[in-house]
Parts: sequence; structure tokens; C-alpha cells
Amino acid sequence: MLTTFKLRDFRCFAALETEFASGTNVIVGPNAQGKTSLLEAACVLLRLQSPRSGSLAPLVRIDAAGFVVDGFYSGNHLQFYFSPRRKKLALDSVEQRTAAEYLKIGRVVWFSNGDIALVRGAAEERRRYLDFVAAQLDPGYRRNLRNYETALRSRNRLLKMPHPRWREIAAFDEPLLDSGMALTQARRVLIAALEPHAMESQLAIGGAVGETLGLQYQPGCGEDFAANLEASRKEDLRLRQTRVGPHRDELILKLNGLGSELASEGQQRTLALALRLAQTRLIAAQTGTLPLLLLDDIFGELDPARRNALLAHLPKGAQQIITTTHLDWAQTEIERVFRLENRTLTGIR
Ligand SMILES: Nc1ncnc2c1ncn2[C@@H]1O[C@H](COP(=O)(O)OP(=O)(O)O)[C@@H](O)[C@H]1O
Ligand SMILES: [Mg+2]
Repeated sequence: MLTTFKLRDFRCFAALETEFASGTNVIVGPNAQGKTSLLEAACVLLRLQSPRSGSLAPLVRIDAAGFVVDGFYSGNHLQFYFSPRRKKLALDSVEQRTAAEYLKIGRVVWFSNGDIALVRGAAEERRRYLDFVAAQLDPGYRRNLRNYETALRSRNRLLKMPHPRWREIAAFDEPLLDSGMALTQARRVLIAALEPHAMESQLAIGGAVGETLGLQYQPGCGEDFAANLEASRKEDLRLRQTRVGPHRDELILKLNGLGSELASEGQQRTLALALRLAQTRLIAAQTGTLPLLLLDDIFGELDPARRNALLAHLPKGAQQIITTTHLDWAQTEIERVFRLENRTLTGIR
């Protein structure tokens, strides 16, 4: 669990320090006080990445050079300094050259009021969902993803040159294929592992007896990545970008056998929650530890039935940090309540 937690120059906060309790922590505050920022900082401390975007640069407070997040998680001291020019990591006060050991300490699931985009948004939203959990279950995943993105960027840059040369472009095919096939395999395995948890969660939250939920993987590289990459050269040249590969993966969600775009609004909301709950359960099942649950302002718009079902199905004993604009919904047991106003967090009970 996350206990002492400090940050400096993170989004709207110049400095903040607090102490979280085990169990349920609730942060109450009006809009634009920094609730999302605070949860994002907790996520960055544990995972060195934001669940919302690929880049950390926008998280540095305007006018500051870099941010610091610092905290104790399960007795381990985590410290991370980030500026667009330099990153520094320490685990138990020992500077780390790689993130491998650091990232073994804590895992996170992020629920947010924007999660409906997992169902209604572009494929990229679902890839980010998969990547966020995959990196927490498989330490090699991040490296493959980075290598793939680097090769893809280089290849696309060459395709955009006034006179692209295939000999140069093809030099990136090997790293693209190697890392791309590893990603495809990892995502395939992950989706198969998530599916039963998502199905159970959908039933638990929606309460619709007999409803079925299917998670299907549609790999952007097709059946044979190497052959399809080769075959798409003409198209790549015409469109000046790489047209096949896991950057075009899709996770298809099927409710009662139908595409989720046809589901009712209520079913879609349940589905978004079910996907997050499924991540929680999968992390618990595969690592034997409960992730830190960050719930960002999701109770405002959730009807009481879904809200109570979700709260009832969050794993017992998981530490939760919940942000909210009002406490009307809170009938569950809450260990600590904080008020966030004027960039200051005050424990009120
Ligand atoms: N890099 C940054 N530097 C300074 N302020 C920022 C930065 N990023 C976001 N903010 C500001 O932080 C404030 C709080 O945002 P947020 O955490 O989303 O609030 P809440 O979730 O409480 O509504 C916003 O007013 C936003 O403009
Ligand atoms: Mg917010």
C-alpha cells in the first residue's frame, strides 16, 4: 500500500505531501482543484507512466524544469525525477540505471470518468488499455513496445521523404517484425486471459442474467506479418506510412454476440467498468498481489445500482484512492477523507 506520498512541480502542484491509509481513501474537492493530477501522480510514482498519455512532459508544472514524485509503497521507497531532458529513479535510495527492479514494486488500475472511451472511442484507446496492463504483468513488454515504436517512427520518417529509398526503409523491417511479432503474441495471450474476468465483471456489475461478453483480438499485422509487410510496400509508399502492424491492432468487444457500438448506453457504461475490473482481477490472479486502485471522479455520473455493484466487487483489502466532488454516494466504509482546495490537501476524518 501507498503510505507517505510527496510531489513537487507536478501539474498544478508546486509541492504537496500527505499520508494515505490502507483501505478506502476519499479526496473531496470542487473542479479544477487537482484531484485528477494527484491520482495521476500516484500512478506515475508506481508505474513511471501516465494512464492518460504517452508523454510525461505535459505533467511538469508550467514554468518548472521537472517534477518529483516520491513515496513509500509496501515499505519500499520510490523516487522519480522527470524533466524532458533527464530522468532519475531511485529505489530505497539507490539510484537505478534501469526501471526493471523499480517497476516490480507496485501495480495500478485506473478507473476514470472518461473510460466510456474504451467502448466508444478509437482503437487507440483499447490499445492503451492493453498496454497499460501488459506492462504490469510482463516486464519485457515495455521494451518490445518501445522498440516497435522506435522502428515504426524511423520507417515512417523515411517513407515521408521526398524520394524514399527501399533499401533504407527495409533496414527497419527486421526490428519492426521482431518487436511487432512479440507484441502481437503478448496481446493475444493477454486478451484471452482478460476475457473470462471481463465476462464475470460484466455480469457482476450489470446484473443482466445470461449476458455474454466476448473479447476478440484483430491483429493489425494479419496472419503473417512478414508477408503482409512485404505486400503492402506499394500502399505504404502511396500513403507514406506503414500500413500493417500492431499499431493497427483492434480489440473487438462483443456483447451478446453483437458489436459493442450497438449496445445500449447503460450496457456500454457497464462494459467500461467491467474492463477495468477485469484488469484488477487479472493482476491479482497473476501476481498474487492487489493493485492500487485509483478511481477518478467516476461516482458522479454513475447510477446507484452500478456504483454499488462496482464497490461490492472491488477486491477486498485493495487500497483505494477515490476522488469525488461530493460525498453523497459514500455509504461504504471509508478509512480516510481528505479535502482538496487551493492546492492543499487536508485530512478531515
Ligand atoms: N502542467 C501544468 N502546469 C500547471 N497547471 C496545470 C498543468 N496541467 C494541468 N494544470 C492545471 O491543473 C488544474 C487541476 O486539474 P485537475 O487535476 O484535472 O483538477 P480536477 O480533477 O480536480 O478537476 C487545472 O486547472 C489545470 O489547468
Ligand atoms: Mg478531474
